[in-house]
Amino acid sequence: MTESLPRISKAVIPAAGLGTRFLPATKATPKEMLPVVDKPAIQYVVEEAVAAGLDDVLMITGRNKRPLEDHFDRNYELEEALSKKGDQNRLAKVQESSDLATMHYVRQGDPRGLGHAVLCAAPHVGREPFAVLLGDDLIDPRDPLLARMVEVQEQHGGSVIALMEVEPDQIHLYGCAAVDAIGESDVVRVTGLVEKPEQADAPSNFAVIGRYVLDPGIFDVLRRTEPGRGGEIQITDALQQLVTGSGEGGPVHGVVFKGRRYDTGDRGDYLRAIVRLACEREDLGPEFRAWLRRYVTEEMQAP
Ligand code: UTP
Repeated sequence: MTESLPRISKAVIPAAGLGTRFLPATKATPKEMLPVVDKPAIQYVVEEAVAAGLDDVLMITGRNKRPLEDHFDRNYELEEALSKKGDQNRLAKVQESSDLATMHYVRQGDPRGLGHAVLCAAPHVGREPFAVLLGDDLIDPRDPLLARMVEVQEQHGGSVIALMEVEPDQIHLYGCAAVDAIGESDVVRVTGLVEKPEQADAPSNFAVIGRYVLDPGIFDVLRRTEPGRGGEIQITDALQQLVTGSGEGGPVHGVVFKGRRYDTGDRGDYLRAIVRLACEREDLGPEFRAWLRRYVTEEMQAP
């Protein structure tokens, strides 16, 4: 909007959910630490924030938070052992995650919903616009979304959400947005939001996915937002108030994402993410693809 606005530099990553869809794997380990090929899902998310120019990262953690903090911290014992062996390649991999960004942590005592998790970021964020990246939502690094959202926020002000068209029978799994075109191919104006509607009640098939660039006005709205669907404080309900103008922090625009995205908190999507990313890796891909081709052929021939 104006050139004097501060550049967005802070990313908030909520990672305090219970991860019940992935039990028992998530009984003692946060779902964000589950490996996607050979990196925990959360590292892709932090890398995405850094690639969009946000290197101040606040993670909202809950129970079992230790592995998350440890992953982004130094591990001197391991580093020394690899150093002694002269294994520079693996040493670099170990150091990569601790050198990525300036990491901060705050604990969400009770997982009272995504809206409540975002509210826990208020003291750290202050009065600047900031980004929210869900820790279990993986956007393929080759399909940049966040950088475009930051650009749209700088252009239009207010708040920006990420939208993706889904099959109508899938919309009940997402927040859903009613939108108006504004003459840009990948940007729309959001006119209404509803959390996980039945197919018949959904205003569109635009699903809200886990990236947001928010005006700090959202915090005041969240403080007033009552628990909604599932007894949780929903970010969608707070955003709906920004849309209707009853809270400072609007207007709300949506960036329509057409790239590859995986919900690593969902078992099927998690498996698809691993297969796809493994196939495309230079080191693992050729051998893995050949095996996968043989496997699929055998499966198709099976009675
Ligand atoms: P989900 O809706 O996936 O919930 O949260 P969940 O509890 O993590 O997982 P399931 O449904 O039980 O399997 C979306 C995002 O919001 C965070 C989660 O960590 C995830 O990144 N979240 C959710 C919080 O940080 N706190 C909460 O109270 C709820």
